[in-house]
Amino acid sequence: MPAEMIEMPPLLEVQGLVVTTTGSDGKVVRLIDDVSFTVNDGEVVGIVGESGSGKSLTMLAVMGLLPYGLEVAEGTIRWRGENIVGLREREMREIRGREIGMIFQDPMTALNPLRRIESQLAEAIRLHQRMSRAEAKGRVHDLLGRVGVKEAAKRAHAYPHEWSGGMRQRAVIAMAMSNDPALLIADEPTTALDVTVQAQVMKTLEKARAELSSALILITHDLGLAAQNASRMLIMYSGRIVESGTTRDIFLSPAHPYTQGLLKSQLTARDDRAYAIPGNPPSPRLRPSGCAFAPRCELSRGRSICVDVRPALELRPHGSRSACHFAEEVGIAVPVEPVGSEA
Ligand SMILES: Nc1ncnc2c1ncn2[C@@H]1O[C@H](COP(=O)(O)OP(=O)(O)O)[C@@H](O)[C@H]1O
Ligand SMILES: [Mg+2]
Repeated sequence: MPAEMIEMPPLLEVQGLVVTTTGSDGKVVRLIDDVSFTVNDGEVVGIVGESGSGKSLTMLAVMGLLPYGLEVAEGTIRWRGENIVGLREREMREIRGREIGMIFQDPMTALNPLRRIESQLAEAIRLHQRMSRAEAKGRVHDLLGRVGVKEAAKRAHAYPHEWSGGMRQRAVIAMAMSNDPALLIADEPTTALDVTVQAQVMKTLEKARAELSSALILITHDLGLAAQNASRMLIMYSGRIVESGTTRDIFLSPAHPYTQGLLKSQLTARDDRAYAIPGNPPSPRLRPSGCAFAPRCELSRGRSICVDVRPALELRPHGSRSACHFAEEVGIAVPVEPVGSEA
């Protein structure tokens, strides 16, 4: 590897991340179990998986915002090459405020309902940038304009409840953009919104990202949404990454039966007989010792290696990484009609 490539660390590099909690019975449960990935400058990475797969906890660990009782038990999280696990809250807050912009599912978690939108956004800016109150307000109007709020100077005087859900999420995107972050993290940014405004808000987010030329981690249970926006994807299941690769590789030749199942549900979502992966993900407490997906897997069907041996995430011939003992059989087990195959 040439020396200049070694000198530039990725923006974010997570290695062997394990997040645990201790139950009332004293048993240590691994909610996030050995997760590794990198995000480079300007890159859009999707994290996809069913509810409970560990998407949000992975990101909360990165931001140093794990809920009480949960801890990073193993692994490193490097921000521009520096391990930030165990950093003091004051230092962590610096990174979060300046370098990482956060957008969560419910805009009301980010907005204070008792304060006017203008003043709370201005305050968020003044926390990290030297600016007069009037200058900060000017910047708020500019930012709101950029996320598609018309007549921002007039409307920013409102309280959050006076704005619609879609408008509130635009305000949160504006707030996340305010300090020119190198990374935006959006956790289910459109899930709580009306279907009619989801696409507009997503477009706004993508436009904001492009303007900042920041990286984006897009967390979603919606494989299609991730595919439309991300060039690379991590597929999570039961606290682990089960497949990772470029969006193209994953769509053309998924190498994990879980990904295949998600794809099939996605492609048949508008059909009368939409496909759903049978069963439910295991609770982290009751995760099988072998492959966690095996009980639901059409490919495993009780094969003993799936029950006994946890598959490692390994590079496959197609280019993606898969944690499946039978990765090369995936395409055969559950065929998906390629889109536009008649061409
Ligand atoms: N505060 C907590 N205490 C104990 N378990 C938690 C806590 N938060 C999340 N979990 C568990 O960790 C797992 C991953 O949760 P989460 O990251 O929120 O999933 P996702 O965002 O993919 O829906 C789930 O099984 C969830 O029940
Ligand atoms: Mg979540």
